[in-house]
Formats: sequence, C-alpha cells, structure tokens
Amino acid sequence: MLVSAKEMLAKARAGHYAVGQFNINNLEWTKAILLTAEEMKSPVILGVSEGAGKYMCGYKTVVGMVNGMIDELGITVPVALHLDHGSYEGAYKCIEAGFSSVMFDGSHYPIEENLAKTKELVDVCASRGLSLEAEVGAIGGEEDGVIGGGEVADPKECKMIADLGVTMLAAGIGNIHGKYPENWAGLRFDVLEAISNEVGADMPLVLHGGTGIPADMIKKAISLGVSKINVNTECQLAFAAATRTYIEEGKDLVGKGFDPRKVLAPGVEAIKATVREKIELFGSANKA
Ligand code: 13P
Repeated sequence: MLVSAKEMLAKARAGHYAVGQFNINNLEWTKAILLTAEEMKSPVILGVSEGAGKYMCGYKTVVGMVNGMIDELGITVPVALHLDHGSYEGAYKCIEAGFSSVMFDGSHYPIEENLAKTKELVDVCASRGLSLEAEVGAIGGEEDGVIGGGEVADPKECKMIADLGVTMLAAGIGNIHGKYPENWAGLRFDVLEAISNEVGADMPLVLHGGTGIPADMIKKAISLGVSKINVNTECQLAFAAATRTYIEEGKDLVGKGFDPRKVLAPGVEAIKATVREKIELFGSANKA
C-alpha cells in the first residue's frame, strides 16, 4: 500500500539520514527501484514529473502500475508515490488519481501567490492524509520542460511556507537539475544553515538535483537538515550507458538477444546499482 512521505521523512530528520526520491519513467524503472529498496530495507519515494506522467499514459496508469507492483512483488518497505515539480492543476490531478504525496512547485509565482496556493493544497492534502512538498527559490537547470533560474531561497520566505503546515520543503541552495557544470560553485551551506535555523529542527528539507553532488556535500547537507534527496538524471545516464554497451557489443544480434526483456535487462541492473549506491550514501538502508 502506498503511504504518505510524512512519517518516513520525520524519522529521517530525527535520525540524521535522508530518503531517496528516485524518478520513474516506465515499468523497468519502477521495478528496479522498488526491488532495490526492498532488498535494502529502505523506505523510498517514487517521483513522477508531469512529463513522465504523460509519457506513462497519465497518473491513473501510474497509480495502477505502482500499486500492482507493490502487491505482486511483495514490497513491504514504505513507498510514497510523489508528483515532482507539480503545477497547481497537476497537483489536483494526482490527488484525484491516488498519489500519496504531491509537490506543488509555486516557486515561479510571486511569494504571496505561492503562499496562497500552497496553503490551499496543504489543507486538501491534510484532509486526505497525503504529504505535500513546497518550494522556495528555484532549482537551476531544466527537468522535463520545467526550467529554473537557480535563485537561492530567502530563509524568511522558507519560514513563511513552512509555517503553512507543509510536510517538507525544497529550497534552492545552488543545486541544479541534470549534470553539474565544471565551474559549479557547490551548495550554499550558509543558506541551508540559515533556512534550517528559521524553519526549525522538525521540518524535513529537500535537496533536488541529487545527480553528481559529491558524497561529502551530501553528508554535510544531511547534517544540516536535508531528509529527502531527489535523483533522476543519474539513473537515466546509467540506463543509457548499459543499453549502449549491450547494442555496441552486438548482443542483440546473437540468438534471441533482441528480446526486449533481454535488451532492457542491463539498463535495469544499472539503475539498481545506482539506487543501491545512493541508498547507502543517504543512510536509509535498514530504516524501513
Ligand atoms: P537530477 O536529475 O539532477 O538528479 O535531479 C532530480 C530532481 O531534483 C527531481 O526533482
């Protein structure tokens, strides 16, 4: 059964580790992530961007697939199904479709409008037992058509959003979706610390753009209150590289090597390895 992310993140915040949000793109992705979380006895959050939701034939299809897999694969660890960078309309669609968690990304609105729309969704989610993530300051780079300027969050605005009763808060601290450029200045730990002090020790903070952040920065971010870390691009890169090797080695030309289950298998194993590595790094193994 799907669960809200509230309890798993409260435990992570108190226990000084982070739960991974791994974005899904299709059946193979979902299966790889669920099986790895189960193997490692780790809670997990499946992230769905609006683009990926559309690709997978809509949110109801996603809910059906994930619920079916949890049941038929015998998944016992807590799993939250979460809308990633949701629009106002997208948030309502996911709530209706049966998601257990929603991110409303109002960071591109003026702060008053972000506050008003977030508050409305806090109430709707609370009445249905769902978790809600809000965002202040924009994550840099591009994810599925959502483009962020990379503005660093204002800790006072973070406090205003946190006080609305959101479950978790994403704040721009110099993090970027996709690969980090060579000249990336790193995370703004001064801002993260100021935000953490403003919002208090109970508010789980979310670090987007988890791909390519060095392990020491991840550990420091967790020590300053980050309890949820989003990873998307790294699984895509791992899947693509493993699939390329399979084709380049001509394995699809040998026997029944063209069988889609065989063609996609190395990519699935590569996703599993990436997820395993992140769960170790984030410290959420054996916390289910
Ligand atoms: P990456 O694609 O950089 O891992 O970021 C994922 C993310 O933040 C999803 O919201």
